[in-house]
Amino acid sequence: MIEHSGPISLARYMALCLSDPDFGYYTQGEPIGAAGDFVTAPEISQMFGELIGLWCAVTWRQLGAPAPVNLVELGPGRGTLMKDALRAIQAEPAFARALTPHLVETGARLRAAQQRTLAGTPATWHNDLTTLPPGSVLVLANEFFDTLPAQQYEKREDGWRERQVTYREEAFQPYLSEMPCALDRAGDIGDVFEQAPAREHYMADIAARLHAEGGAALIIDYGHVKSANGDTLQAVRAHQAQSLYAEPGLADLTSHVDFEALCRAAMGVQSHGPVTQGNFLRSLGIEARAAALQRTASAPQARDIGSALNRLLDPRQMGQLFKVMALNPLGSAPPAGFERPEGARLAAHGTTA
Ligand SMILES: C[S@@+](CC[C@H](N)C(=O)[O-])C[C@H]1O[C@@H](n2cnc3c(N)ncnc32)[C@H](O)[C@@H]1O
Repeated sequence: MIEHSGPISLARYMALCLSDPDFGYYTQGEPIGAAGDFVTAPEISQMFGELIGLWCAVTWRQLGAPAPVNLVELGPGRGTLMKDALRAIQAEPAFARALTPHLVETGARLRAAQQRTLAGTPATWHNDLTTLPPGSVLVLANEFFDTLPAQQYEKREDGWRERQVTYREEAFQPYLSEMPCALDRAGDIGDVFEQAPAREHYMADIAARLHAEGGAALIIDYGHVKSANGDTLQAVRAHQAQSLYAEPGLADLTSHVDFEALCRAAMGVQSHGPVTQGNFLRSLGIEARAAALQRTASAPQARDIGSALNRLLDPRQMGQLFKVMALNPLGSAPPAGFERPEGARLAAHGTTA
């Protein structure tokens, strides 16, 4: 493509590396877990999915207990979050009876892994939101938005230039667009600004669906509360960072999520947060859940539960970088975990890229 039509945008490069039907990282690989390239919160502990399942049950009641209701997970990885959530939801039998699980997954191998994890569950798989049946929805997305492509701009003397990718001497290489772009934004020379229209479009589609059919959404990802300049695009393979260009299709490419941009894109619904993952899980009672599990565990298991809890909550680990936002109908009360916006809101942390 580059030889034929010239350098491509980083967003195009990222989309091809991750989702090319033959060579894409998520289309062909099964990258999550200790033996893969990275570990996600549901893989760290069952408590994560269980609490999210209970969040769904409480939120469903808040929505007026619509029946039937679609429980939709975007980018479900190995299906662990959905499995743990569905188990916890059994505590609210009316919700368990009313819901149908739907998994939105484009990667064939991960889809097969999800089908194994959820064997016996009457779930349906989709490529995107358009094939969901009508009716109320509860949408879950953990580390989904960061995988959708982002593009970058770099500030030069004559304005912002787009960072692109070219191919020279048998290697992919960074390339700066020849002409400045019409980007109206402050920055010092050398600053980088990231934009992810694909994420904003996805968010707008979720919001449109909630607005039309009713429901709520919970979005968890690493990122910043306010749009800010900064280069957060990274490639990870086998738990190690590497160059974006080293092994296209074999490394995970992600960038931090701009929650301010996501909130702006969520039109026609109410957005809550973002709050830190640590505050969110604490307010849902994860410490009490850990203590209950530890009471019936062996000593080594109890230690593992304690270290998983710490990994999810500690601000130096996942507790602060990961943020949680929710959407629900205009005029409704904040969902569980978002009731104390002043205490939990992050502006006070000055968290940026
Ligand atoms: C970083 S993984 C997160 C997995 C899971 N949520 C977890 O927490 O373990 C990203 C997931 O999103 C999927 N994915 C990436 N792009 C997608 C898209 N456009 N539509 C649906 N799923 C997508 C990947 O295949 C993978 O399942």
